[in-house]
Amino acid sequence: MSIGIVPTGAPLGAEIRGVDLSQPLGDNVFATIERAYNEHGVIFFRDQHITPPQQVAFTRRFGDIEFNIFAERWSVPGSPEIVVVSNIAEDGKPIGIKRAGENWHSDMCYTARPPRGTMLHAIEIPLLHGMPLGDTEFASAALACDELPEALRQRIEGRTAIFDFKGRKRAFPPSASEIERNPPVRHPIVRTHPHTGRKCLYVMRDDCTGIEGLEQEEADILIAALADHVIKPSHIYRHQWRPGDVLMWDNCTVQHRAIQDYDMPLRRLMHRTTMGGAVPN
Ligand code: SIN
Repeated sequence: MSIGIVPTGAPLGAEIRGVDLSQPLGDNVFATIERAYNEHGVIFFRDQHITPPQQVAFTRRFGDIEFNIFAERWSVPGSPEIVVVSNIAEDGKPIGIKRAGENWHSDMCYTARPPRGTMLHAIEIPLLHGMPLGDTEFASAALACDELPEALRQRIEGRTAIFDFKGRKRAFPPSASEIERNPPVRHPIVRTHPHTGRKCLYVMRDDCTGIEGLEQEEADILIAALADHVIKPSHIYRHQWRPGDVLMWDNCTVQHRAIQDYDMPLRRLMHRTTMGGAVPN
């Protein structure tokens, strides 16, 4: 079967058909997948049956693996590169990070080199009366940038925002040492995508705590306006998961949030890998 790329019809996202990720991928097939990923910001593959090492190997095709702080607490035995994202507890102990990413964000934007992208393999998806819950929403920060009014674009051109790890509320509060290892960093408000050259807005409400050269009040107002612009309904693709989905998003082009509309006894279990990125410019 040949590879097919089917755009979602939303301003971002495409399904890749005709690929079995449990098998080695030839260079041409991989190049087609990588092009689709760069172009669409989110790509997904249905009905995949992959082991944790196969997920790690596929992630590595896109670059070095990035270790997420939560891997220290919740990883897959034998695959420390995979973070378990789940609401399941066994013997009273959570098996993974629960309520991960419920507010709009771009992964690890609080680091000096935020990851290129993130991959989720859906293993269990909550169903209520046969309807899947626990969708993930993705917003195009590239389209949001294209649509900025010229006066606003000029106002933010060349400006940098301050990203603070302590800004975001997390379901599992980070430890003192995690906070110490992640001091505030600065990134351009308008990033250039390292592979496509596309300009993308890089501002989120919780993680951005200031803008260099602006008074706090003025910065707060601008951050809120830009962050809300990114997540306008017309910029969004909402993914309804099926077990066996492998989905990956680009952390420059796209912001995302997990919809927390389920709880036990409805179980959700995902395996997450993260690929290393470049310093934003
Ligand atoms: C995340 O932000 O990494 C979690 C996304 C999800 O579980 O849908």
